[in-house]
Amino acid sequence: MDRTLILLKPDAVQRRLVGPIIERFERKGLKVIGMRLMKISDQLAATHYEAHQGKPFYAGLVQFMTSGPVVALALEGNQAITVCRKLMGETFGCDATAGTIRGDFGISNGFNLVHGSDSPEAAQRELELFFEADDLHSYPLVDDCWNAAE
Ligand code: RTP
Ligand code: MG
Repeated sequence: MDRTLILLKPDAVQRRLVGPIIERFERKGLKVIGMRLMKISDQLAATHYEAHQGKPFYAGLVQFMTSGPVVALALEGNQAITVCRKLMGETFGCDATAGTIRGDFGISNGFNLVHGSDSPEAAQRELELFFEADDLHSYPLVDDCWNAAE
């Protein structure tokens, strides 16, 4: 089972899309193992998006991500990182395929509702940035057998 970090960005919270977006992940079969509503500090935004430092959109990205509360989710499931990226869709809302979160709920390039870790290394790093080990919960669900890798 993989784990991944998902952020419901400030536009998702402002547009009252927290419920509909979490539903997309839950109904696919992903398990919520951590969840927090929080305000991202400048420092955390800079660390989280350090790979983008120096790019033209970087300053606007940090400003956006610190502009209001976000919901951080830790999700677990079979191929969770890849599956979540597929559910999210392409980066820009105008390019994202209909049926994906970005494809259904937005049209903007930068204000694109969700973040998802893009590799196992990124997932581990980002989960540690947003969650204490004690705030991640392993627990059985009655339908685990239907969502297993086998
Ligand atoms: P994310 O990291 O947020 O999950 O998004 P991503 O992997 O699909 O895209 P990435 O290339 O990592 O870009 C990070 C975020 O920066 C904003 N962005 N704006 N205006 C632009 O050209 C531009 N390019 C990227 C988006 O908010 C994107 O999600
Ligand atoms: Mg990214």
